[in-house]
Amino acid sequence: MTQHPTLGIGLAGFGTVGSGVWNTLHRNGALITSRTGGGVSLEVERILVRDPNKSRATTLDADPGLLTTNWRQLVDDPKVEIVVELIGGTTTAFDIAEAALQAGKPVVTGNKALLAERGIELFALSRETGVPIHFEAAVAGGIPIIRTVMDSFVGNHIQSFFGIINGTSNHILGRMTDAGLTFGEALAEARSLGYAEADPTLDVNGWDAAHKAILLATLAYGFPIDPGAVHVSGIEQVRPMDIAFATRLGYAVKLLAVIREHAEGGVELRVQPSFIPNSHILASVHGVFNAVAVNSDAAGESLFYGRGAGQDPTASSVVADLVEAARGARHVESHRGFLPYRETGALIPVEDTATSYYVRFDVTDRPGVIADVARILAERGIGISGTHSPVNPDDPDADFVDMVFLLHTCPFGRLQGALAEIEALDCINSTPVVFRIETLA
Ligand code: NAP
Ligand code: HSE
Repeated sequence: MTQHPTLGIGLAGFGTVGSGVWNTLHRNGALITSRTGGGVSLEVERILVRDPNKSRATTLDADPGLLTTNWRQLVDDPKVEIVVELIGGTTTAFDIAEAALQAGKPVVTGNKALLAERGIELFALSRETGVPIHFEAAVAGGIPIIRTVMDSFVGNHIQSFFGIINGTSNHILGRMTDAGLTFGEALAEARSLGYAEADPTLDVNGWDAAHKAILLATLAYGFPIDPGAVHVSGIEQVRPMDIAFATRLGYAVKLLAVIREHAEGGVELRVQPSFIPNSHILASVHGVFNAVAVNSDAAGESLFYGRGAGQDPTASSVVADLVEAARGARHVESHRGFLPYRETGALIPVEDTATSYYVRFDVTDRPGVIADVARILAERGIGISGTHSPVNPDDPDADFVDMVFLLHTCPFGRLQGALAEIEALDCINSTPVVFRIETLA
């Protein structure tokens, strides 16, 4: 039997993705070895977990002594040459990545929160030490979009990305639409399927998608992006009536990330629940699938589609990075990752971004409600293309009703001003819920 040279892996995290990496390395080990320059075999030498006594679906048929609860033991282990960070979060995960880079050990991570919040620090250290960070799994699970942006499109100006880049939200919206599940039921499904974050708040409040959008924009536009400057709203407020309304109008409801470079050089970056036309290909992206539509000056329009979350698709991206790291560990490689090359880049304030809108108000019905809302909109120069207030057949004289307005294109800031004034009316019971209506042009 051929004896292959080995490269030791420290696997920090043995949950959904970590155990998927273990399974893939075992299932496809021979194939991976034959494709890794020099026939190097990747061997997991240490595994970091929080609770070593937890019962796990993936059995450690090797030495159960691989497990540790002390991350330093993993990073410092001389047999560990590459560190894979799959524990999530931005604190211990940062410490692990930092210590690995300082020790000269390449890092592979799927942690978009870590890179969006603290990537600037980590990539600076990566440059300083000459030790790479690989992060294909951090955006869109099994879709190779990071490589595409960094390598395949390196000669393009990228004009825009439109992305459905959170599998959990897309699963929830789809199940609410097609199976009539409640929000809570659909979220529970997404968690049991391994799509959701350990803290699923990040999935439903839009921040997981925003973290991914920040990574794409940083790579495409070359300047550091402050997460605090990004406008993000999630799907927690989406109700079946919004979905039904969108369907009647010929739209699908999606959590959409929009990244677009404007002619004057500013970059628009936002994540919001949006109505998108059923005729657009992104409307056909269902369940855990993600898609990223990229428009660039040389390649034109491209679409990247695949499973955006879950054990095996995500492990596929992590293993690809492991092989790249293994190749790099055996050969000299130039630095890759965030390369800030544009000093004057800036995000466009969300107030200055314009679309048309669907707005739902929770109102106490009284004569003149519609007129009051319409007056405030008119005073701000916001046109109304339609309004609707579904009648409850069991209680046509109900005091509390939902009222929907479809509004013509205007800057978001102007809409926000009008909504603040409308919300102060005595007949408005809660903060209005806003959906963008996107043309995706
Ligand atoms: P997970 O199922 O919750 O697994 C996390 C693992 O890390 C568990 O094994 C846990 O130990 C361990 N862990 C957590 N905190 C720890 C700590 N402080 N010290 C030691 N061990 C700790 O999470 P996951 O879904 O695999 O996600 C991992 C990372 O991949 C996250 O950054 C996530 O955003 C990213 N990601 C996930 C997906 C996906 O589809 N799930 C897709 C792309 C990227 P125990 O097993 O003992 O609890
Ligand atoms: N929680 C994430 C999602 C995992 O649902 O898309 C993939 O990054």
